[in-house]
Order: sequence, then structure tokens, then C-alpha cells
Amino acid sequence: MTDVPPQLFVIFGGTGDLAKRKLIPALHRLGSRNLLGEKQAILGVARDEDFDDDALRSWAREALADAGVGADEAGDWCDDRVFYQSLPNGTADEFQALAQRIEKIEGDLGLPGNRVFYLALPPGAFPPTIAGLGEAGLNRSPGWTRLVVEKPFGRDAASARELNELCHQHFDESQIYRIDHYLGKETVQNLLVFRFANAIFESLWNRDRIECVQITVAESLGVGSRADYYDRAGALRDMVQNHVTQLLSLIAMEVPTTFDADSVRYEKIKVLKALDEIRPQDVVLGRYGPGSIDGRDVAGYLDEPDVPDGSHTETFVSLRLRIDNWRWQGVPFYLRTGKSMPRRLTQIAVLFRRAPVCVFEPLGSCNIGSNVLILRLQPDEGFVLCFDVKEPSEPLTMRTLPLSFHYRDAFGEIPEAYETLVLDVLTGDQTLFVHAEETEASWNRYDPILQSSLPLHDYAAGSWGPAAADRLLAERGHTWHPPVDV
Ligand code: BG6
Repeated sequence: MTDVPPQLFVIFGGTGDLAKRKLIPALHRLGSRNLLGEKQAILGVARDEDFDDDALRSWAREALADAGVGADEAGDWCDDRVFYQSLPNGTADEFQALAQRIEKIEGDLGLPGNRVFYLALPPGAFPPTIAGLGEAGLNRSPGWTRLVVEKPFGRDAASARELNELCHQHFDESQIYRIDHYLGKETVQNLLVFRFANAIFESLWNRDRIECVQITVAESLGVGSRADYYDRAGALRDMVQNHVTQLLSLIAMEVPTTFDADSVRYEKIKVLKALDEIRPQDVVLGRYGPGSIDGRDVAGYLDEPDVPDGSHTETFVSLRLRIDNWRWQGVPFYLRTGKSMPRRLTQIAVLFRRAPVCVFEPLGSCNIGSNVLILRLQPDEGFVLCFDVKEPSEPLTMRTLPLSFHYRDAFGEIPEAYETLVLDVLTGDQTLFVHAEETEASWNRYDPILQSSLPLHDYAAGSWGPAAADRLLAERGHTWHPPVDV
């Protein structure tokens, strides 16, 4: 592992939800694992002029208490490392004041000028902040400077391109870390090791052996209190263009020549470029109505707080995609994601082709299934490979049984995605971050759907989505593989 040099971690949105729930706890955990380097400080930046260093320190202590850190430990950790700077209007003078504060903290603590600027902000605040940093000369420093941009990166191809152009006006691509937190999940990273370190699977990973691939990212929660953001985004922008597409790229990509950022991202971009045009008949959009999940009654989307009357936002998307290359020609990739579904489940099911002939037919029932590989990404992370076996009885009867591996049994606790991603930013490893070209290639594929007005199918909260999503598969003789418990 590369050493983490002393650095200043500047969080824009320093008093916000992401900083509190994810970033401060992730930095603290890295510190407890001795991975933060020998010196480190955190500077929270936000609009509030009434906040100061002490206020942010007690806020950071609360964040750590919520994450289960004891009061003494949290106090010691925050007191000499957490600072606050207000930036109420984002003016040039305020950015200059920020630059001076950064130099002062670095001078006082003996930090060499390595800086992370983490934009934990609403997307509308990305452009002025990036421009403000650049114009104040904060895009360069005596050490290294890295810019971390949260999702969503743009809301369509044009806005993603514009945002990339702005980033590149002030920062080099090698300084930019676009976050997709799915890439920080251990089980998502493990897809690469699973595929490229185990030759038995790689030799089956193609159109000759695979019937179809099904990716499900289901959430049992509804929109909750986030309608203000979500109603303007919808499931396609919120989940498909980024998280679900990342899973697709990792499952479908070619073997990279080496395991470094350029090679891995280059192969992912090739998948996106090979994706065929998505036609209206390949898409099903849905919206949850009232229903029940785990025995509790759940409101429909239109009755959730802050959802505007007449909303036409989708909370479910299902897609049938084709990848037009030698490996995948003719293999459908089915994707679905939705809110208010029966359970939280991220699962990739790879259905292999059936045995071409059933030689057991004359001996009894012959219900040969497909061998299926289930990659369970969350929760209960693990793999299951399903085989047909003979039941010990006559007449000959077959049953499909799982061969499974459970992540937690082997490794215990799995690190949080943000811990991995923050560490990668600090060590300068961009492999798990999204390249400019990748964001644009992904938006380019989904733009036509965003611009068309497709019907919105209702589904009851607590169901697996609208019936039309089943028809997408039925038209090719497939059905959704049920969740398999690991
Ligand atoms: C976020 C989306 O990026 O990912 C949320 O904005 C979604 O709407 C969340 O709930 C899902 O992440 P996870 O890690 O809980 O699967």
C-alpha cells in the first residue's frame, strides 16, 4: 500500500449530511487503522457564518458518536485536527480568504501543501465551487491538489460535458476524482478479482456459454425525505446512469492489460461505447403506489412528503440492453432498480445456457435448469453457484442446489465504501473513480430515454415492479431469477 503523505482534507458541505454520516467517520476509521499518514487536518467549509472551529469540532464529535466512537476518543481526535471556514456567498474575496486560511493551517501544523477538496455539495453548487477554487489559484499547491466530485455528475450528456469542461479549465484529469460509491463497495471491487483471477469463469464468460445476465438493485426504502432532490432526478439519473451502469461495465468488460486506473477505466469505457442504442421497447419505467413491505403499510410515491402534484418521476427502471461486441453479441443484459421493493437486494445473476439435450428424459422427469451464478453484492454478500443434482430416490428426480460462499464467514466485517474511496484519494489511486469520458459515454446512452416521454407503469410498494418489466424478459423467453440467499 502506498503511504499517505501529510495532507489537509477540505470538505465543502462541511456541516452537511454526507460529511456527518460518511466522511468524518471514514476519516476517523482510517486514522484508527493508522492509514491517515503522520499528519492530517480537516477543514470544513460551509455557508454558515455563525459556525467556527469549536462548533465544527463538537459537530464532528457528534458525527463520531453516531458512528459508535467513544466520547474521549472522539474529543482527542477532533480537537487538534478539525477547523472551520465560512464561505457564505462564494465570492472571489471569500475564496481568497479560504486560500489564506488553508496556508495558515498548513503553516501552523507543518503540512506540506497536499490538499484534497471534497465537494460534498448539492450538484448546483459544483460549478461555482470549481470555478472559485480555480480562480483563487487553489487548483495548484506546493504539494498535490485533488478534487473530489460527488454524484450526480450532470443530469444529461450536455450538462456532464459542460461540467467536465469546467473541471478541465481548472484541473487536470489526473487531479479529478468523480465518486460513484458503488465502486468503493468491497463486493463490487471483488467482481474484478472474481472474473480475472479465476480462469474457470473467464473461459465461460461469453455469448457461447451465457444465456443472459440480470442485474437487480432493489431498495425497500421509498423516497423518504429526499423528494426535493429525487423528484428532479428519478431512478434513471439517480441509480441507472451511475451505480447500475458501473455494475454492468464490470461484469461485461474485457480483461485489462494491467490493474491500474487507465487500463481498467479504458475497458469500462469500451463497454459503454459498445452498448447498442436503447429503444423505447427496451425500457420500462414505473412508480410505486401504496402497498405493504414487511407487513407494514407504505404510502405511494405521490403521497410522500414534498412530492409535487402531477409528478411524472420514475421510481423504478427496467432495461433490456445489448452489447454489440464479439463477446456479448446476442446476450441480453436485463437491469432493474427501484425503490419500495420487497427487500434490499443487489444481485447479479449470470444464467448459463442449458445442457443442449436432456439424456435423463426417459428415466423420469427432466426439468434441467440453467446453471446460475449469483453474485450477491448486498446485503449478505457472497456467491452462489446453482447445480442440478440427483435426489436420492427413484424415479430419477433432479433438484437445483446451491454451492455457496459467504463473505462475512470468510472475512468478518467488510469496510465501508467511503473508507476505501477516501483512502484511494489520499494515495492518488483513480481506479475506482469515474473518468470524464466514462461519465459522458454513460449519459450519451441514456439521453434518448431521458428525452422521450415513456409511459409510467404503476407497481404496488412491496412488489418487484410493474408487470411490464417481466414482459421485457418474457419476450426473449426469460424470467427474473428470484433472489437467492447466500
Ligand atoms: C444513492 C442514491 O446514490 O445510492 C440513493 O442517491 C440510493 O437514492 C443509494 O438510495 C443506494 O446506495 P446503497 O449503498 O444503499 O445501495
